[in-house]
Amino acid sequence: MSSLEDKVLSILKNGKYVSGASIAKSLGVSRSLVHKAIESLRRKGFIIIAHTRLGYRLVEEDDIALAQTYVRGLGTRIRYSIHYLRKCTSTQDVADNLAKQGCDEGTVVICEEMSEGRGRLGRSWTAPRGGLWFTVVLRPPPLQNLQLLSLATGLAVAKSINELYGLNAKLKWPNDVLINEKKVCGVLIEAKAEADIIKYVLVGIGINVNNELPNELRGTATTLGSITGKVIPRLPLLLTVLKNLDLIYSLIRESKTEAVIKEWIRNSSTIGRYVRAEVVSGEVVEGLAVTVDRYGRLVIKTKGGNVAINAGDVYHLK
Ligand code: BTN
Repeated sequence: MSSLEDKVLSILKNGKYVSGASIAKSLGVSRSLVHKAIESLRRKGFIIIAHTRLGYRLVEEDDIALAQTYVRGLGTRIRYSIHYLRKCTSTQDVADNLAKQGCDEGTVVICEEMSEGRGRLGRSWTAPRGGLWFTVVLRPPPLQNLQLLSLATGLAVAKSINELYGLNAKLKWPNDVLINEKKVCGVLIEAKAEADIIKYVLVGIGINVNNELPNELRGTATTLGSITGKVIPRLPLLLTVLKNLDLIYSLIRESKTEAVIKEWIRNSSTIGRYVRAEVVSGEVVEGLAVTVDRYGRLVIKTKGGNVAINAGDVYHLK
């Protein structure tokens, strides 16, 4: 970080709005340099909201109930609208009801704790207080590839974690986010289709942040809090994930499939590894994970040739 960025950041650390002019004055630089420093800080993942009259404000709160105040300032193409709940069964259920009633794309249901959180492949998902549990309703245009959206969501989370905390989060196919090979985030994509036309998609994201993990998960899962040794404010993380999801979703809408896959592979810990895939049909495929194809399928090189798998669980062997 440049020393100007450092200085701007320390001024913004007071948590209040500060005008560009007064930052410029106190640092003895031009407003355009301040603006450039702010832009650069934003690219590094800091959430800095701009208000036309009041100036800039750094968002550091843990309080996700405030999210609605900040989503507009993200300047995303998706118009996010936040439904905050203290408790619910599953954010997927709540979002499903809202979607059935015709809510707009970008509706986000976020909850402090879920009593019946759902995971992939019919599993349950433990969601106590302290984590980040939310579902985004998307209404993608026809013919969009859902598998790609699933990969893209994991990618948006991994990039956000790396941008914000300088960590090295990686992706395990299809969309688990791992840090040091332990799962820090899971993604559940559920779609409602009628006559083969997708009506809406529920993008469920669960990130272990400051929550406790049950004993049985401690060997395979981790939390951002335990990795960084700090209590992580969840609001900037939520906003960064929403921002990155918006960017990647735009690529998908523009059919820039290759760009998404390339970026996914770059951030993957699966490609180049020996894996065992337990496919939904019950079949087991073992071999070298060589790539992800344009449909988002994992291509495994086996003794009998290449096999592309669509859905299932993957275990890294070496
Ligand atoms: C998995 O890895 O099995 C997917 C886990 C998905 C968990 C999230 S938390 C928010 C949303 N609501 C749910 O009930 N599940 C997803």
